[in-house]
Parts: sequence; structure tokens; C-alpha cells
Amino acid sequence: MTTVTELLDAAEFRAVLGRYPTGVVVVAAMVDGRPEGLAVNSFTSVSLDPPLIAFCAAASSSTWPRLRRAGGFAITMLGADQEAACRTFAAKGADRFAAVPWSLTPAGHPVLDGAPAWLDVVPHTMQEAGDHELVLGRVTHLGAAPGGEPLVFFRGGFTGLAQREDGGGDTSASRRARSAGPRGLDAESPFFGVLSARLDAASR
Ligand SMILES: Cc1cc2nc3c(=O)[nH]c(=O)nc-3n(C[C@H](O)[C@H](O)[C@H](O)COP(=O)(O)O)c2cc1C
Repeated sequence: MTTVTELLDAAEFRAVLGRYPTGVVVVAAMVDGRPEGLAVNSFTSVSLDPPLIAFCAAASSSTWPRLRRAGGFAITMLGADQEAACRTFAAKGADRFAAVPWSLTPAGHPVLDGAPAWLDVVPHTMQEAGDHELVLGRVTHLGAAPGGEPLVFFRGGFTGLAQREDGGGDTSASRRARSAGPRGLDAESPFFGVLSARLDAASR
């Protein structure tokens, strides 16, 4: 039988998929009383009702099976100034949380300080997906800080969101988004308002 890897060159697969820019998050939990986590760029939002997010954890990861057993975790969305932290959270064998300031979320999970935003998540479904596990998580708490820029992973390297000097492509919508805060996730936005209200109601 012909396998997919015979049809598809792995380097080409990575090069083509790497043309799609993503943010980077740290997925983390307390394991045996110590914070553990790993850097992940396969994170995305999935559903508003119920509030679901997703990411993919590699079968080769030694950290994910330990986080999986914790029964819940926090997602830290990394900022443009947290590239060093991102590299630390991808390094095998590193004492990752020793290198960064961190705090506990309302659910008791570790998040990196100074990040643009964070979420508390409980597992919803976990499904084998090739050499990864596709994890759907339900959001129980969330928060965002004012200001700052996200870390962007693109074509195998790190970058930020470039501000065009000539103003080209600067639509009134993008100007409105910037004046509402660099992340557009201010308390006035419909998305933030609805989600916060439902999470508040669910936790009562
Ligand atoms: C930018 C970036 C994105 C990554 N995205 C993922 C990902 O989506 N899923 C994953 O399992 N590992 C991802 N990794 C790899 C992990 O961060 C980590 O290197 C890997 O899990 C090995 O460490 P571990 O054995 O402690 O888990 C990514 C690494 C980097 C640098």
C-alpha cells in the first residue's frame, strides 16, 4: 500500500503549511505540585456556545501526557516580547517555568505574566489525529491585558504584526480596531461581552 508520506514530501508539507501565520500559546497545568507546559501554535477558537477552543498535541511530546492527566489547563497567548519564553517552552528537558515570571489563574493553572491574554480550559473531547491528538477544550475563565502585540510564527520563524508606514491598506475598520485597543479584545466588543456574561452565568 502506498502511504501518504510516500506521496507527500514532509519538508514540502511543512514549507507550504508554514506560509499560514499563527500566534503561539503556552498550554500549562500544575503536575504533582509543579508548573509544566509547552509551546503550541496549533491553537484556534472553535465555538462560542459552548465556548470551545482547540489545539493539537504531538504524540511525541513528553509534556502533554502529563498535562492531560491534570484534568484542566491554562492557555497563555504569548506577546511579541515573549519569543525567548516561547523557545524555552519548546526546549526538551528545560526547567521551563524557572525562566519566567508566572501566576495562577482562578482555576489554579499556571500562566506566564505579561502576556496579552489567557484562558482556563477543561478538556471537552480528545481524539487521535495521525501523529497528533486533537484536543477540544471548554473555556471556563479568560482575561486580556491592555496594549501589546502578539508573537507571530511564520515560515518557521518569529515575527510581529508589522505596522505599514505608508498607511496602505489602513481601512476605517482597522483604524477602529486599533483605537479600541491593539488586540481588539476590549470589554466593549460583542465577542468579549457575550462570552464573559455566559461564563459568569455558568460559574454561578
Ligand atoms: C512555534 C512552535 C510551535 C509549536 N507548536 C506545537 C503544537 O502545536 N503542538 C505540539 O505538540 N508541539 C508544538 N511545538 C513543540 C513543543 O513546544 C515542544 O517542543 C515539544 O512538545 C517537545 O517538548 P516535550 O517533549 O516536553 O513535550 C511547537 C514548538 C514551537 C517552537
